[in-house]
Amino acid sequence: MTPEIFRQLRDFIYEKSGMFFQEGKTYLLEDRLSTRLEARNISSYEEYIYFLRYDPRKDEEIKELFNSVTTNETSFFRDLNQLEAFRQGILPCIEKKKANGNKSVKIWSAACSTGEEPYTIAIMLSAEGFVLRGWDIDILASDISDQVLASARRAQYSDYAVRNTPEEYIKRYFSSENGSYVIVPEIKRMVRFLNLNLMDTVQMKSMRGVDVIFCRNVLIYFDDDAKKKVIGHLYDSLTDGGYLIVGFSESLFNITRAFKPVGMNKCVIYQKM
Ligand SMILES: C[S@@+](CC[C@H](N)C(=O)[O-])C[C@H]1O[C@@H](n2cnc3c(N)ncnc32)[C@H](O)[C@@H]1O
Repeated sequence: MTPEIFRQLRDFIYEKSGMFFQEGKTYLLEDRLSTRLEARNISSYEEYIYFLRYDPRKDEEIKELFNSVTTNETSFFRDLNQLEAFRQGILPCIEKKKANGNKSVKIWSAACSTGEEPYTIAIMLSAEGFVLRGWDIDILASDISDQVLASARRAQYSDYAVRNTPEEYIKRYFSSENGSYVIVPEIKRMVRFLNLNLMDTVQMKSMRGVDVIFCRNVLIYFDDDAKKKVIGHLYDSLTDGGYLIVGFSESLFNITRAFKPVGMNKCVIYQKM
């Protein structure tokens, strides 16, 4: 791949998804996209860019491009301090706030990968008794990649994925099938999966009235302009006083001042003012 073709591909991916590949990542793009060239019987990256821009099947190929270039690392109960902040800090506040109103809560896992994060949220709400207390729980889980969403809907995991999951939850919320861990139906039906691109202003307008957004470990792939755009979308999706949880190593410093940073359980959580 020549430097010029790398730049064209990088700019195309950035414009469509916000993901930014730095100079020097040519080998990475080549590695991830070589199978796409094979699948389309295309012999050069130059031809591939032409395909992405002008071929009648370009929309289909852009989805495949997203499947190929995204990094989908995740696990159940990832970054426990943040989840404890959610359990001990955020959930009681929501319960208090809605004590006299309708008992409904809407939570969005905005880059859910293969589903471990939204299912973790569902498990926590169930374990905290929200289901038993009759709450109307809406957990939305979205990602730009159809491939990870298909895997999330299967809800079948390896022991590596559940390595941080407390034993009592493994017993209660998973069944075992041929050596894998399968989410039980009562948890599975709490989560709705959909394909959403965080950079797509029109799609993002469908997300409103959310109490808590988990948008963890995806901002690291964006540059500051893309982060500002995505965070603006998430702000609009939250209810007043709603909470945004970004990745443990991510921050909104220099991105926005619209949120109030709140310290909870050694983490910073962002609250819509
Ligand atoms: C590293 S995973 C994070 C999974 C989970 N949130 C966690 O923290 O464990 C990042 C996910 O972001 C998704 N992603 C990347 N760009 C996106 C975009 N523009 N819109 C929606 N999802 C995106 C990728 O497909 C990938 O599944």
